[in-house]
Amino acid sequence: MEKKRFYITTPIYYPSDKLHIGHTYCTVATDAMARYKRLCGYDVLFLTGTDEHGQKIEDKAKEAGVTPKEFVDKIVTGERGVLDLWKLMNISNDRFIRTTDDYHVSAIQKIFKKMYENGDIYKGKYVGKYCKPCESFWTESQLVDGKCPDCGREVQDAEEEAYFFRLSKYADKVQRLLEDTDFLEPRSRVNEMVNNFIKPGLEDLCVSRTSFTWGVPVDFDPGHVVYVWVDALFNYTTALGFLNDKYDDYEKFWPADVHFVGKEIVRFHSIIWPAMLMSMGMPLPKKVFGHGWLLLDGGKMSKSKGNVVDPYILAEMFGVDALRFFLLRTFPFGSDGNFSNEALINTINVDLANDLGNLLSRTVSMVGKYFDGTLPANQAEDAEKDAELVELISSLRTRYEEQMEKFAFQNALSEIFKVISRANKYIDENAPWVLAKDMEANGPRLARVMYNLLEVLRVCGILLTPFIPDSAGKVLDQIGACEGCRTWESAGVYGSLSSTATVQRGENLFPRVDMEKALAQLEEAAQAAKKAALPDLELEPQLTEQVDFDTFCKSDFRAVKVKACENVKKSNKLLKFTLDDGTGTDRQILSGIAQYYKPEELVGKTLVAIVNLPPRKMMGQESCGMLISAVHTEKGEEKLNLLMIDDKIPAGAKLC
Ligand code: MSP
Repeated sequence: MEKKRFYITTPIYYPSDKLHIGHTYCTVATDAMARYKRLCGYDVLFLTGTDEHGQKIEDKAKEAGVTPKEFVDKIVTGERGVLDLWKLMNISNDRFIRTTDDYHVSAIQKIFKKMYENGDIYKGKYVGKYCKPCESFWTESQLVDGKCPDCGREVQDAEEEAYFFRLSKYADKVQRLLEDTDFLEPRSRVNEMVNNFIKPGLEDLCVSRTSFTWGVPVDFDPGHVVYVWVDALFNYTTALGFLNDKYDDYEKFWPADVHFVGKEIVRFHSIIWPAMLMSMGMPLPKKVFGHGWLLLDGGKMSKSKGNVVDPYILAEMFGVDALRFFLLRTFPFGSDGNFSNEALINTINVDLANDLGNLLSRTVSMVGKYFDGTLPANQAEDAEKDAELVELISSLRTRYEEQMEKFAFQNALSEIFKVISRANKYIDENAPWVLAKDMEANGPRLARVMYNLLEVLRVCGILLTPFIPDSAGKVLDQIGACEGCRTWESAGVYGSLSSTATVQRGENLFPRVDMEKALAQLEEAAQAAKKAALPDLELEPQLTEQVDFDTFCKSDFRAVKVKACENVKKSNKLLKFTLDDGTGTDRQILSGIAQYYKPEELVGKTLVAIVNLPPRKMMGQESCGMLISAVHTEKGEEKLNLLMIDDKIPAGAKLC
């Protein structure tokens, strides 16, 4: 029989910076869903990719002194780039699209032309506001306090000749789609879209630009490039082969079963996207699911705030599966969640190390100790004591499936961990170590207790596979699960594991994390990353205000020789210099450079001082003049070097 199909997508990422934990969250969620559907027996296509055009990329590339393509290549295919990150995170995407791929570019040109020819795209003049970071056009009425309603940043005036898409024409149809069907979930997002965007009146959408060139050219009107969101949204179809020969899966997989998207891009996916598909006469995706954001200290993560969380650091410290698990176990997918390192470590310790890790290691080691690793066929059930656990195992798959079908990852995992907790309690209730004291009398009962625990681990292992693929596989290996008892079907049937299963004790899958030590390490890593991101060298900008020559000449610069130098008592900043300035009388200067020099290393050096500044008192001592030094910033650290000149220059020589 032909398999049922399932097509799922992530938003294609904007490679203007490295991806952070928020991007990772969405991709891990999509991966878990794709793996779940494969486990259920579907023929799955999971697409992700990168959205590489637009003014922001053009600007950033210019800043970096490279071409836009070179710029995005580095972030997408370079070391620790997007592709590396998905590989590290064990993302099982079947396809990866880059909107700079030729097949996509030419398909977008055909799509644009088709909408132009059917009258839904027309030429006009754009007057409005543009948010550069979001690549979004806004009308005056849509702004919030005069700023971009999505990101709150300043918007720019924009006016140019442009093509427009007749979005207004589709307003009613889109409203009905949103209100009368389950197209958009969670339901709360429907009200947001209808009340904030459709009811105030949908205006036609500006879909071309002439003020920059990094985009898909409108082939019938040189100078125009296609608006980046039109280019980006159609990726979901061009990656299947729509209007191109690169792939041949459009008939098979379109319409998509679900697009997972972050809440700020729900507007594009639930209003603009269906309207354009209607214009093209194409079927609509079955569902758009708008997930929440991972917040940091209650706010959005952003590079400019310097508070992005690097998934590489976390995965390397705690393991990929621990990180994947945390993301889906801790936050309800439809709502925002506050990320913290403490919560991450806590989840690892409680759920993985304590509950699952302990259940596995205790069970496997007891089967090893009491039965030499292989359970005997002779087992004794105790209906009263086993019934509850057996029922929980038998019905787990159904409860899990109900949640997974709603994309409620957190609840699905809760169902699994309820059974794991119950199993740990079952160990204590049945006290295998007491039973083992009299194997002759209790051996068959002890064997049954162990078997039930292995069954818990088997069913949970299977159902955890979408979340923690590697570790779940190792759980199943350790309990000796055969191929046939790792399947979706077998997860719904208690007793699928051979009653004489042989366990294989393995590594401790989830070691406990020392919270304090790990937090310190993370802090250190965050500091190092911050430092690495700083510019190598920062120089004070040169003054533009000019000083006339005569004024300049009034400053008297002289060579001075250090006769003595010492720290000023009670000050950790000041050094006191006794200087020969050629006049025959010692000159005293205080300088706030104690953190850069030891006094003894300066004695005998020839320095430069301004000698005609009015005397100043510092820490009760007089300072007559100022020593000249060079200052700059290196990797965020201030550096200072006293200006030292040739010792052949006599004290008192005038510098001019
Ligand atoms: N390029 C567009 C998508 C085009 S899809 C046709 C885009 N790219 S993005 O890189 O800016 O964002 C990609 C996804 O990451 C979005 O769904 C966005 O919501 C998600 N996230 C970015 N930061 C996030 C968090 N802090 N938390 C959760 N998801 C967030 O938008």
